[in-house]
Amino acid sequence: MGSNREIADFIAAVLLEHGLDAEAASVRGLRSLEGWDAVVLGSALYAAHWQRDANRFVTRNREALAARRVWVFTSGPLDRTLAAANLPIAPNAAEILAGVPYEGHRTFGGRLTPDAEGVDEQILRTHAVGDFRDWTAIREWAASIARALTT
Ligand SMILES: Cc1cc2nc3c(=O)[nH]c(=O)nc-3n(C[C@H](O)[C@H](O)[C@H](O)COP(=O)(O)O)c2cc1C
Repeated sequence: MGSNREIADFIAAVLLEHGLDAEAASVRGLRSLEGWDAVVLGSALYAAHWQRDANRFVTRNREALAARRVWVFTSGPLDRTLAAANLPIAPNAAEILAGVPYEGHRTFGGRLTPDAEGVDEQILRTHAVGDFRDWTAIREWAASIARALTT
């Protein structure tokens, strides 16, 4: 529904601010990691699972990822306090990433808008509506990645 993409765009913007070459891309259209030294990979949580596209991407690029520096994030908890507590990575995400030595995982809050496509009454009854993303926390994390890549 676009909120994870916005986090990716923001991380890329922070990396650019720090003088790195960075680009946010949907894994759906990404065929190769050629030319990139590092990857920041994120998925939203749906029913406590990382999304299928992330699974397919990692499966296709496992060796290429293992040869690069990798950071990982999840967006999902529709709750700022839970997101700030930095929940452990979802079991299926840990499974997907087996063999990819990533340098850190962070959980960032998600966003649920009532009028988004596919959001029905039942989802609205069982999930919190709102934008729970903490841009300060995301900026700090992205800046720490930039520092790790430049020192
Ligand atoms: C059908 C549905 C199921 C969801 N399941 C979970 C979940 O199990 N755990 C969670 O933390 N967030 C869950 N969320 C919240 C989403 O992860 C959150 O809205 C996220 O920001 C969506 O990302 P996107 O806009 O990139 O699709 C769910 C949202 C929807 C609409």
